[in-house]
Amino acid sequence: MAEFTDVLLTHDEIKNAVDGVAYRINQDYVGKDVVVVCILKGAFIFCADLVRSLTIPVTIDFIAASSYGAESTSSGNVKILKDVETDVAHKHVILVEDIVDTGLTLKTLKDFFMQRNPESVSICCLLDKRERRTVDVDVEYCCFPIPDDFVVGYGLDYDNRYRNLKDIMILDPSVYEKKG
Ligand code: XMP
Ligand code: MG
Repeated sequence: MAEFTDVLLTHDEIKNAVDGVAYRINQDYVGKDVVVVCILKGAFIFCADLVRSLTIPVTIDFIAASSYGAESTSSGNVKILKDVETDVAHKHVILVEDIVDTGLTLKTLKDFFMQRNPESVSICCLLDKRERRTVDVDVEYCCFPIPDDFVVGYGLDYDNRYRNLKDIMILDPSVYEKKG
């Protein structure tokens, strides 16, 4: 437990919140042609749980993006590393992300999808560090607003570690300060 200062969210708490968001999506998208886009890598576990709680028909695709600049913050220069294969024109896109921080990544990805003539683009995130926002981006579905701590687990990583933890943990700052 020395690597973590606390458990932020248990697997049970996460499951309840994910089911709650899935319930809302099930209501909001009845009869619509929906493409769920999982933003790799961090959202892979969240998205896997979310789509299994959806009762509406959806197609699922994946995108990977990286942002240049300092490692712990997003610079806004977002590069698409892997694009979706689905033609999203005239479809309802739901972007599924692990965490919204400054908002730069999702704003860029939303603008990117808007250029492809979709019927709509909405954002569904697991965690939202609202106090860190620097750009305006609408988040239609959010499981948890959280404080500005670095968190890992349930898909979220530090240096590609900890993604497999069932709970979401607050990483002890000594772990990343040590690395420099
Ligand atoms: P922006 O600033 O563009 O960045 O909204 C969102 C991305 O920042 C990363 N991020 C974190 N990753 N624990 C993580 O594992 C955190 O506490 C955290 N805060 C931000 C993440 O990659 C996200 O997609
Ligand atoms: Mg991420």
